[in-house]
Amino acid sequence: MLISKNLTAALNEQIGYEFFTSMQYTAIACYFGTEALPELAKHFTLQAEEERTHALKLVNYVVDSGGKMIIPPIPSPQSDFKTAEEACKLALDSEMEVTRKINGLVDLAIEEKDHLAQNFLQWFVNEQMEEVSTAETLLRIVQRAGEAGLLLVEDYLARNGLAASTPDLNAQ
Ligand SMILES: [Fe+2]
Ligand SMILES: [Fe+2]
Repeated sequence: MLISKNLTAALNEQIGYEFFTSMQYTAIACYFGTEALPELAKHFTLQAEEERTHALKLVNYVVDSGGKMIIPPIPSPQSDFKTAEEACKLALDSEMEVTRKINGLVDLAIEEKDHLAQNFLQWFVNEQMEEVSTAETLLRIVQRAGEAGLLLVEDYLARNGLAASTPDLNAQ
């Protein structure tokens, strides 16, 4: 067994959180779907799928390293939102929370001198850079457009998607 009981428990907790985030993004997608904003709904549906793949990446690691995978109880996500801004702010807060949790997992792996886990978790460390940046960009676009201008946000997402909204500053 390559993984400690302690780290297994912490990774299982993270698996629960990634599944929770997947459900939270699904709930946000449903909110936007109900509001007849399909591009925003699509964005959060894709995010929900991505979170599920994060959970599965962690599941594979726990199993491959010989730990016992147990999915913890998962609370139900928030489904009611007053505004698009509120929903997008929740997504950003959630990405900031995930980043804190990933950092905590790396701290634990370092404490345990588990180099394999440290190496594995670096993927998540890097992933959070993009996740937080994307969530911040979307929140700012929604704030700039205002509730009355959400069709502009739809148009923006349909034309550019969010990935293209950050210029590549390294491009020559
Ligand atoms: Fe994630
Ligand atoms: Fe995420």
